[in-house]
Amino acid sequence: MNLQTVCENAAATGRSIDLAGCDYGPHKRSAQFLGVQPYYHFLAGFVRSLHLRKVLEIGTSYGGSMMAIHRGCERDQPDAQLVTVDKVDIAGKGLTSLADVRRFHGDSLASGTLQEIAAHLTSPIDFLYIDSKHSYDHTDKNLTIYGAQFRPRFVILDDIHLNSEMETLWADIRDTVQQYSYDASELAQRPTGFGVLDYVAAKEALRTGELAPANRQAKRQVGGLGNSAYRQRGT
Ligand SMILES: C[S@@+](CC[C@H](N)C(=O)[O-])C[C@H]1O[C@@H](n2cnc3c(N)ncnc32)[C@H](O)[C@@H]1O
Repeated sequence: MNLQTVCENAAATGRSIDLAGCDYGPHKRSAQFLGVQPYYHFLAGFVRSLHLRKVLEIGTSYGGSMMAIHRGCERDQPDAQLVTVDKVDIAGKGLTSLADVRRFHGDSLASGTLQEIAAHLTSPIDFLYIDSKHSYDHTDKNLTIYGAQFRPRFVILDDIHLNSEMETLWADIRDTVQQYSYDASELAQRPTGFGVLDYVAAKEALRTGELAPANRQAKRQVGGLGNSAYRQRGT
């Protein structure tokens, strides 16, 4: 199944998942309380349609997205593990009352935070959802560090069209992994962008040469997706 079909299935599945109470919470700048976001349905449908059970989110905030993932997840399975991390503890009651979601607090880029999470969450995981600081370097580092540690089958990067740095990051990733990436912004009803990666398959295609270094035009090695044969543009 190609990634577009995977995403279409996720959107279709997510439409019928009841997300009442999975609120975004207070908006950072306006402080206005926001309810269920349309992309939450995509997230819930993504884990439900693909039977994803081991999920790590970077960027908990109030907890709406993890509550949606929780609704979509088959948690009765013995291998289910839902984990979320944020540098601040602002999760609402809806999330904190979910005993089967493990919350960590700390800077995701600090080695201590990674070690704490790794002591709890075993690799490989099914899904890494990155919705943290939306800059090139920060997102690139999260993808590199957590991709290497947890070998996620799928990755979703939120807000890939939020600003020029995120646009550049997404362009570099797409240039590197090509058909193993898919822009699901429309399907997820997320105008600021929702980028989906078939991460393990992309790594394998890079390793075997199916995605040849010569075909990769990315400006720089990104997200731990290069290999030793990587060449920078123009070199
Ligand atoms: C846009 S919010 C997440 C929204 C949430 N995923 C949702 O959709 O409901 C981004 C969050 O990333 C967190 N964050 C930013 N930098 C971080 C870092 N270095 N380590 C951990 N969390 C970070 C912020 O504190 C903030 O709560």
